[in-house]
Amino acid sequence: MEILDGFDNSAILRAVTLLKEGGIVAFPTETVYGLGADALDPYAVAKIFEAKRRPHFDPLIIHLGGKDWIFRYGDNLSPYVQVLADRFWPGPLTMIVQKKPVIPDIVTAGLSTVAVRMPSHEVALKLITALDRPIAAPSANPFGYVSPTRAAHVAGMLKGRIPLVLDGGSSRYGIESTIVSFEDDGVVIRRHGSISEEELADCVPVIQAVKANQPGISPGELPFHYAPMKPLVIVRGVKDVKTERSAFLAFRVPETAPISKQLRVLSETGDLKEAAANFFSSLIDLDHQDVDVIYAERVPESGIGKAIMERLRKAAKKGEILSAG
Ligand code: TXA
Ligand code: MG
Repeated sequence: MEILDGFDNSAILRAVTLLKEGGIVAFPTETVYGLGADALDPYAVAKIFEAKRRPHFDPLIIHLGGKDWIFRYGDNLSPYVQVLADRFWPGPLTMIVQKKPVIPDIVTAGLSTVAVRMPSHEVALKLITALDRPIAAPSANPFGYVSPTRAAHVAGMLKGRIPLVLDGGSSRYGIESTIVSFEDDGVVIRRHGSISEEELADCVPVIQAVKANQPGISPGELPFHYAPMKPLVIVRGVKDVKTERSAFLAFRVPETAPISKQLRVLSETGDLKEAAANFFSSLIDLDHQDVDVIYAERVPESGIGKAIMERLRKAAKKGEILSAG
């Protein structure tokens, strides 16, 4: 497996060649690293599912090279689509829209909708525009595991399963995109992410999901996801850390030293954006330490804090489900 500097044009050319041959390539985005294939080539897309061991019922996001590409792949667009694209694209917002037939069924798991986003990371945009086709890409982690925010994470997680990782540095946001779908009277948040509910609500009405109108699954509907290998327990603070052979993932600097063997602080000043940017890399790091359990401190559920807590709850749920047999 090669790791190449994604800011180098020859690396982009190498990646485009692989993609044109129906191969898969890991590349950086501003949220997390993605594992990409030509979205219009169903055989190439199948390789993503194999490399990730991802179940075929879980649909993929396609990454676009321009705002206007949405008209090539989306149909019957809600007027809110344009409003959101103008405000947040390129950037970490994914929109679920009616799909055009050109999008293969394997991408959407047979749904009539497709998830689209235009990333803002320079390397991602260069890759997509050089290929001149949309790139289907989930996060570049084995299914259910924590998402990678650095090239080295991807290399560690998918070693031997992919030919190339483009290195674009640490992902700026560190948490996946926010996913929305559309109703007549507003947008529904299907996954909390890098764009906060408050930011969305500033430009469109945000409404609660009507279950019956929401075909397909989103990660929020799977029993667990985004989970480290080690069991994870959410706690209120340092006082709730009871065992020494543990790691403590603190939101801010704790008032007293924890008894844990390992401590990581997401943001010394308690800044939620900084905490999000450090979240997955800290979890991956702690998962590799010699401890039996990871204690994670709650973060305030405002702004991007909602997305962090959504992922912590999913990770904790895995522990509960596994220990219940
Ligand atoms: O930030 C991100 O969104 C990253 C980067 C690489 O772009 N991608 C990412 O992809 O997080 P993934 O596959 O790990 O999560 C996307 C989720 C899928 O799990 C799926 O459940 C949901 O989006 N999804 C995709 N298409 C959908 C559709 N048509 N309807 C409902 N949910 C959909
Ligand atoms: Mg993922």
